[in-house]
Amino acid sequence: MSFKFTVYGHSTFALEIDGYHILIDPFFDDNPQSPVTADEVAADFILVTHGHGDHVGDSVKIAQRTGAKVISNFEITNWLGEKGLDVHPQHIGGGFHHPFGYVKLTQALHGSALPDGSYGGMPAGFLITTQTGEKIYISGDTGLFPGMALIGEEGVDLAVLPIGDNFTMGADDALRAVKLISPKYVIPSHYNTWDVIKEDPEAWKTRVEAETDSQVRVLAPGESFSL
Ligand code: NI
Ligand code: MN
Repeated sequence: MSFKFTVYGHSTFALEIDGYHILIDPFFDDNPQSPVTADEVAADFILVTHGHGDHVGDSVKIAQRTGAKVISNFEITNWLGEKGLDVHPQHIGGGFHHPFGYVKLTQALHGSALPDGSYGGMPAGFLITTQTGEKIYISGDTGLFPGMALIGEEGVDLAVLPIGDNFTMGADDALRAVKLISPKYVIPSHYNTWDVIKEDPEAWKTRVEAETDSQVRVLAPGESFSL
């Protein structure tokens, strides 16, 4: 079995596994990098790492159109559930077997206020284990933290890490994160959306591949990676 991982710019991703369409942090319509709009994307599940507008994004609009189930922390799923969406609450350290795989929420060092100022609980990342055992770690917006080594102990095939600095890890700390996680492949995210998070992903790829055994895949918005 294989999966297809597509990037849409910033921190918006689609994962296709076994015919299921899973969106992660679906920020399309106000995302200057996205080549598609929220009206065009398929979704069976939507995963939301934290409450910020560039991550909750178009979740409400897409879930209303598609009937997708939203997986996020307890506070964010309460907020989305009040808007009539189908939700599945989890929390950090907790995993659940969804039809496409096992999803565990991981620690992230960040904020999580929702767009209207509501409390969005603790920010999170996702560790997704497919039905055939591949592990995908999407850190979400986060600073570097030593627990990344514990996530790496699980054997990560693909890690998706922010490199843009200012709001999240920058290039130096993201390189340290790769050393803690030791993923087979890593995809950089959360850069070049705005001037404040400008970063050169090719320069980062060169450093990572010189100093670690991980392979970096730099994807333009709309491009996919398959394992
Ligand atoms: Ni954020
Ligand atoms: Mn963000």
